[in-house]
Amino acid sequence: MEKVSTGIEGVDRLLSGGLPKGKSYLVAGEPGTGKTLFCLQYLLEGAKKGEKCIYISIDERPEHIIFDAESMGWPIKTYLEDGSLSIFDVTNYFSTPKLGHDEGINIDQIINDILGHVKKMGASRLCIDPIAPLILTEQHLPEVSTYIRKLVFAIEDNAECTTLLTSHVPVGSGKLSQHGIEEFISSGIISLQIAKVHNKNIRTIWIRKIRGVKLDLSDYHYDILPERGIVLRQAV
Ligand SMILES: Nc1ncnc2c1ncn2[C@@H]1O[C@H](COP(=O)(O)OP(=O)(O)O)[C@@H](O)[C@H]1O
Ligand SMILES: [Mg+2]
Repeated sequence: MEKVSTGIEGVDRLLSGGLPKGKSYLVAGEPGTGKTLFCLQYLLEGAKKGEKCIYISIDERPEHIIFDAESMGWPIKTYLEDGSLSIFDVTNYFSTPKLGHDEGINIDQIINDILGHVKKMGASRLCIDPIAPLILTEQHLPEVSTYIRKLVFAIEDNAECTTLLTSHVPVGSGKLSQHGIEEFISSGIISLQIAKVHNKNIRTIWIRKIRGVKLDLSDYHYDILPERGIVLRQAV
């Protein structure tokens, strides 16, 4: 089984080398747990190796993503300029909180455009952060479920890339995703949390499921450090 390095040393060790290639994985967590930085670290690892990488920005403008990476001291602009990384801004596709052909947002068009972008670039790494925009609430659940399912299947069937999808976890809910279906359609789940340990909030990571990989289900503490990004505290 060919593996893809996440760019996060401790996580690669937990995955016995990396993520199995060509599948989609969910990075789930409450706000501020580090999902966006996890994606950026993963993509920049690919770009550093000469792979083509795409970040699909759903809730945030590309300038914010560039700002986040630069604040970590990561050379994101170099990769954007040399064409190894591209940020595809689809925020406008979701500018109305309705889904479906008659209501302004065309699910098939979003999926086609994303796939077209991946194919044109020949991308091997893709991140969709987050998989479904925050503005879509429970009242849109059937359409959102259709969109998520179609998108993930279309990518797995038509694109040659290893994909990270992030999901917002509502604070304090103990859920793995906003809509409750994201975890079922992905090939793996990486859960990022902020847990209270002896009155201190500590970041913890738990790899909950990866198809085809034997896992250590322990929680590992991690820090977010300038330059190094996500760093696991204990030796794995
Ligand atoms: N340059 C930085 N140096 C250290 N920590 C940072 C830096 N930039 C962001 N962080 C940490 O990362 C957290 C946000 O991570 P982010 O990936 O945006 O979370 P999420 O996408 O899950 O909401 C911030 O709350 C901050 O603690
Ligand atoms: Mg984020």
